[in-house]
Amino acid sequence: MAASEIKHLTPDRYAVIGNPVEHSLSPVIHSLFARQTGQAIVYEKLLAPRDGFRETVIAFRDSGAKGANVTVPFKQQAYELADGHSWRARQATAANTLVFHEDRTVFADNTDGAGLILDISEHLGRTLTGRRVLLIGAGGAVRGVLGPILAEHPACVTVVNRTLATAVDLARDFSGFGEVEVVPLQEVELDRYDWIINGTSASLQGVLPPLPEAGLRPETVVYDMMYSKAGTTVFTEWARRKGCRHVYDGLGMLVGQAAESFYLWRGIRPRIGSVVAELRSVAG
Ligand code: ATR
Repeated sequence: MAASEIKHLTPDRYAVIGNPVEHSLSPVIHSLFARQTGQAIVYEKLLAPRDGFRETVIAFRDSGAKGANVTVPFKQQAYELADGHSWRARQATAANTLVFHEDRTVFADNTDGAGLILDISEHLGRTLTGRRVLLIGAGGAVRGVLGPILAEHPACVTVVNRTLATAVDLARDFSGFGEVEVVPLQEVELDRYDWIINGTSASLQGVLPPLPEAGLRPETVVYDMMYSKAGTTVFTEWARRKGCRHVYDGLGMLVGQAAESFYLWRGIRPRIGSVVAELRSVAG
């Protein structure tokens, strides 16, 4: 058999690279996408040493792989090692998706924001366009989604953060892409917003960002970028207790960012709804 034929029969290889990476759902998500779209791929988990991200990426690329997802704590390093960047990665100065080209160059993209928008539009059937949006947090997660949120043309975007100065810096960095208002976290008037999106890592620690007690309206859509397979986080539970009727965790965003990565690599964008449902049912 000719070498070119063998190459044809070998599925393209991808991986999620992180530390830790053991609990990543990405291999399951991408294998569900592959089944849905009839694509043959192999997708694995790669644990990179904390001081060995670059070497891990280069070795994976040189082994013939076609691309990788990147997760904590390497998203900034992924941005830095790439030869070319999408506008989304440049806005975030971080990358969660790498594409390995035939000429060995590495292209970096950030699909987190697109994943959030895909979840909101395709999966939840909602929109940010013309809506008043409150974003809580000003770290890497919010940096990754702010550009794509502004691109949806919301009526306004306010950022609040435990450390006010970080939110002020963030708003300044994005001033070329749209207006971002910053207010002190405890002074925010929750009843002004159609959407409240939590982009802090507080849910990971099992705590709530210190928001005012009053003002949450039942019709405000509350979204936590953190997720649990069962769909509950401290933040979503707080919103439900306050009587909010439209409360979502970030599992759809996770699947959405994966769908956008898959699209970059394979040229086909999988539907996310059935994959979210399947992940939830496994959580059963
Ligand atoms: P990530 O990449 O997850 O965004 P990060 O860049 O460290 O991680 O940012 C974490 C975000 O969660 C920040 O906005 C942080 O607020 P500070 O800038 O004040 O640190 C926020 N955060 C983390 N723990 C929090 C808590 N317990 N209450 C409120 N905000 C919290």
